[in-house]
This record gives sequence, C-alpha cells and structure tokens, in this order.
Amino acid sequence: MSLQQVFDHLDANMSTYKTRLSDAVAIPSVSNSQETEHVEATRSVLEDYTRCLLESIGATVDMREIGDNQEYPPVIFATLGTSASKKTVLVYGHMDVQPAQMSDGWDTEPFAMTTIDGKMYGRGTTDDKGPVLAWINAIEAYQQENIPLPVNIKFVLEGMEESGDSGPLQDLILSEADGFFAGIDYTCISDNYWLGQNTPCITYGLRGIVYFHVNVKCAKKDLHSGVHGGVVYEGMAELCAILNSMVAPNGDITITGINRDVLPMTPEEEASYGPIDFNIDTYKSELGVTKLTHRTKAGILQHRWRYPSLSIHGIEGAFSDAGDKTVIPAEITGKFSIRLVPDMDPQKVTNLVKAHIRSFHNSTGSENEVTVSTTASAFSWLGDTSDANYTAGKRATVRVHHKAADLTREGGSIPITLTLQEATGASVMMLPIGSSDDGAHSQNEKLNVSNYLNGMKLLASYMYEVSQLAAGR
Ligand code: BES
Ligand code: MN
Ligand code: MN
Repeated sequence: MSLQQVFDHLDANMSTYKTRLSDAVAIPSVSNSQETEHVEATRSVLEDYTRCLLESIGATVDMREIGDNQEYPPVIFATLGTSASKKTVLVYGHMDVQPAQMSDGWDTEPFAMTTIDGKMYGRGTTDDKGPVLAWINAIEAYQQENIPLPVNIKFVLEGMEESGDSGPLQDLILSEADGFFAGIDYTCISDNYWLGQNTPCITYGLRGIVYFHVNVKCAKKDLHSGVHGGVVYEGMAELCAILNSMVAPNGDITITGINRDVLPMTPEEEASYGPIDFNIDTYKSELGVTKLTHRTKAGILQHRWRYPSLSIHGIEGAFSDAGDKTVIPAEITGKFSIRLVPDMDPQKVTNLVKAHIRSFHNSTGSENEVTVSTTASAFSWLGDTSDANYTAGKRATVRVHHKAADLTREGGSIPITLTLQEATGASVMMLPIGSSDDGAHSQNEKLNVSNYLNGMKLLASYMYEVSQLAAGR
C-alpha cells in the first residue's frame, strides 16, 4: 500500500477540507454559554455536523446523553472498523470552543473563517475543530483511494471540554471501561500545539487544574463610598488582599504546603530540556512581553510544565465599566486557578487553599462572609514515552516533516486524558498539529493551511505506523 497515494489525495482535496473547517467554525458551539444560540450550536455541531461526517466515512455513531438534564450536549462514541487483525486506536477531541466576539479585538469575524496569507482565522480552527477534522479527512483519504484503513478507530468527541465540567463524561467513560473502551490498544489526542513554529512535537504531559471562586459579602447592598467609606470592612479590599496573599508578582505561590507533592526532578528529566527546540526571544515576541519570570530555556519550560502556577482571572461583581462610580460593592467573587503537576492532588490543593483563605480572613478581623468553592478540577497527566504508541508517533513525524519530533509537555489541561488512560489501560499520546502562535482562546485564533495539511498527513502516517508496529516492523 502506498502512503504517498494518501498524501497526494490530501494535497489534491485541500479545498474540500478548508470548506469543511469553515462550515464547522460557522457553528458557534461556545462551551457552557447561557445563550440559547450557543447551547443549540454545541448540540448541533455534534448531533448534526460531526455525526454526518462520521457516517459519511462509514462510522457507527452512538450519541450518548450525559448529565441529568438537557444542559449538557451529547457525547459522540463512534466506531469505524472492528477487524480482529488490526490494532484499535482511540481518538479524542472536542467540538466546543471558547467564546469570541469582534469586540474582543478580532480583525475578522470569529465565526466566519477567513484565510489570509495561508492562515485560516476563526474560533476553533486550532482548538479543536481543525485537528478533529484532520482525523476524518485523513481516514476519508484512505477510503477514497481504496486503501484499507490500517487500524480500527474509535472516536470520543465531546462538547464540554472548554467548560472544565467533565464530571458526567468521566463517569460515562469509566462505566464503559469494559464496554466501548474495551480492546483499545492506543489513544491519540490532537488537542495541543507545537512548542514553536518550526519543529513538530509529541506531547507526553499535561498540567491539571483546580478553578476557585472566592466570594466576599460585606453588606446587604452596594454602599455609597463617600457616606460609608471609612467604617466598613470593605469586601473589595479584603478580596484583593486575599488574592494578593496567594501569589507574588514573580509567580511564586505563597500558600503554605502547596509545593509539598511536586515531584522532584530526576537527572534524566533535567537532561531532557537541553535538546528541545525553543527560542526565548521568539516566545517573548509571540506573547508581546519583554521580561519573563525565568531566564533560561529549562527554567521557562519547567515553570510552564512541571511546576504549579496560580493565575488570577477576574472579579465578578466589581465595578469594571468605563468612567467613575463611587461604590462599595456589597458582594464580589474573585476567580483564580492553580495548575497542578505530578503528584499534586486536586482535593489536597483545595484543602490547602481553603485553609489559607480561612486563616487570612481570620487575621483581618473582619466579619465579612467569605466562602470558597471550586468549579473545574483535573489531575495532571504523564504518559509513558517508551510505549510503542510513541514509536509510531515518532516515525510518522519523521515521515511527514523529515525531522524528529521534540518530546514536550504542556501547561494546559485536558481533564479527560487521565480518565481515558485509566478506562482503556492503554497508552495515551498527544500528537499536535497546530503551531505555537495559533492563539487558542485568544483573539485571531488561526490554523496555518500548511499545518492543517501536514497534520492530516501526520495522522494518516500515524495510523499506518501503528499497523507496522503490529506487524513487527
Ligand atoms: N486544548 C486545550 C488544552 C491545552 C492548552 C493543551 C494548552 C495544551 C496547551 C483545551 O481545549 C483547554 O483549553 N483546556 C482548558 C481546560 C480547563 C477549562 C479545565 C485549559 O487548559 O484551560
Ligand atoms: Mn482544546
Ligand atoms: Mn481550549
């Protein structure tokens, strides 16, 4: 069989694949939005758009409802091929996206894909609609060239990834460990990015996360700051002090005990950062910053991948409009999250944070009501790079890019990864196709046309290499 034939087919049909991505981007499947339009779109992108595509390549699609109400979009469980002589690869991806509006500062309509200079701009192009479609396009190319697909494929495609609310999906997956997830040999996820713009990556680690809300209530309604300022324990002052007590401007987390479970560095890990292609100046300019909290390549990568971080995201209920308002807000909610690394435990971290905030609050002498709750939560994940799954990924990368993939970890989180590893008992690997400057979650998110095309070739090659491994080659 000829992979070249598959590659040629992919080259020749790029306009179809672009239209497909553009059609997917046009469905505003914004995760966890209250807007009816978004709720319907998130359901529809799975139930209509993706299901149709999967059926067109001959997959058996099983739409599974999750959660106990209609608020959750369904999850796709799909099966393509059940040959006993082939390995079975599980593909995970998500069709929900982050919110986006022109007024956020986009140069083009976020839900109308626009190609400029070989870059396809639009929400979800790189995270994660483009990679999901790349799998489907690659499979279809085999079929249309009348080449048998080298592996059996199972898909899990969801619509709640960006909300962090993966509880119901986790339950479903674990309950299907001996059902849908039986007999899976490898899991491959394409939902992250290269570390730079030139060198392809294979990713074996993700950070986890706990997302916190800290609510402070200081009065029964908003107060005039001129009339009452000076005698009230103001909630905003207490909240800012609480937030300030947890993280220093240089990124150091100042919560007692937070680093206790962080795995120490081994000499092997220490050595692994050296060969990675990462340019500090390019990185700084992608971010638009002039100084970072760490100066060396290893220091920067380690603090993105293998140490925890705490970010403050916003304050709900605080005055944030233009102009002045002389108000003492009665109730506000601070939002922050901590990225977790091996071997941190979300529950232990939650307990430490709650204890820290309680003791800080006690030290202020205020009798404000301070409550802490968590929303999203996920363990970190580390894969085993010695598994044959990674051999297939490495060979596929060399085949398409004519250079070796860097082995990377990521600072971001995909809550379901560890669950998939547990339910299948098989190796999980991340095989990204997008570039470091794609700007997932940001304004002007894009996917390069070349990354989309090479990504399809990479996934096509990966399926082939898996079958070669199985044949002992
Ligand atoms: N695709 C990302 C995960 C990701 C981001 C991997 C960066 C590697 C690098 C995913 O869609 C995502 O955004 N995840 C959220 C999860 C959260 C809402 C629980 C994240 O990391 O913030
Ligand atoms: Mn994603
Ligand atoms: Mn995302």
